[in-house]
Amino acid sequence: VTISDGNSRVSAVLPTGESVTVLLIGATVLSWKDAQGDEKLWLSKDTRLDGSKGVRGGIPLVFPIFGPARSDHPPTSKLPQHGFARTARWEFLGKSTSEGSSSSVKLDFGLSSDSIPDSTKALWPYKFGLLYSVTLDKESLNTTLVVTNDGDEPFDFQILLHTYFNVKDISTVQITGLEDSEYIDKVDGAKAKTETSSPVTFFAETDRVYTPAKGAKHPIVISDSGVTRFRIVRDNLDQVVVWNPWFEKAQSMSDFTPTDGYKNMVCAEAGSVNGWQKLDKGDAFEGAQTIYLC
Ligand code: BG6
Repeated sequence: VTISDGNSRVSAVLPTGESVTVLLIGATVLSWKDAQGDEKLWLSKDTRLDGSKGVRGGIPLVFPIFGPARSDHPPTSKLPQHGFARTARWEFLGKSTSEGSSSSVKLDFGLSSDSIPDSTKALWPYKFGLLYSVTLDKESLNTTLVVTNDGDEPFDFQILLHTYFNVKDISTVQITGLEDSEYIDKVDGAKAKTETSSPVTFFAETDRVYTPAKGAKHPIVISDSGVTRFRIVRDNLDQVVVWNPWFEKAQSMSDFTPTDGYKNMVCAEAGSVNGWQKLDKGDAFEGAQTIYLC
């Protein structure tokens, strides 16, 4: 494990060459490479890395609200889009490794109501703890978030692992595992729709919140140029957001470069974002995704 760039990043490399890099801002996974050095995650060249905005790429962590603040839910009505966890500075808690033929490394990160600034507490006053573990092995990357309620008041939250996958050509991308599933189409006035029995393909701006009909253990599979690339298995995360900004929206985002980078990325984001998870005093919630290289 190396800590670099003025204590701002933590990287780990397996003996076989696979690597992962996590930015302490947001505990954002910035890079995941296989043994050949091929990058699996997309990262904008002009992303901010200083917490002034969420990272445009990698795996930003959305908590405790998905999307913009909503007036119909007063406890989260002061929060910025996608909450504060993705721009807060997390603490690196340490690593653990397992060796042998199935060697792996786990990096742990923490954020709590005791470690956020008063200005953030003023937006969301609850006592909470977040423990985020990033585990790399030869074939997969697992990201697990545990949320605890450390105070007396119950609180509501949403979480999302906003993964930006690197793809060769968005026009050839197919996502399976969402067949016949209900979704909210955010590009079409948040209309409720039902997916067909075909894979999801991309030819325009796409922003959909799916509740996969087959449940969390059934994988979501991304293929690209006819090759199966990623298999996502969820644990306790009931939704999958599928997002590609396409040309115009990419152009309107100052931190999205190159503008035609939308051709090389697709977001498939495992989360719990329909309604709210309620956590009572002393309770904990755990949600995770494992991304396998196919
Ligand atoms: C997705 C949302 O999860 O994140 C989109 O569904 C949103 O609506 C996208 O545009 C990016 O959000 P942000 O805040 O990083 O620009």
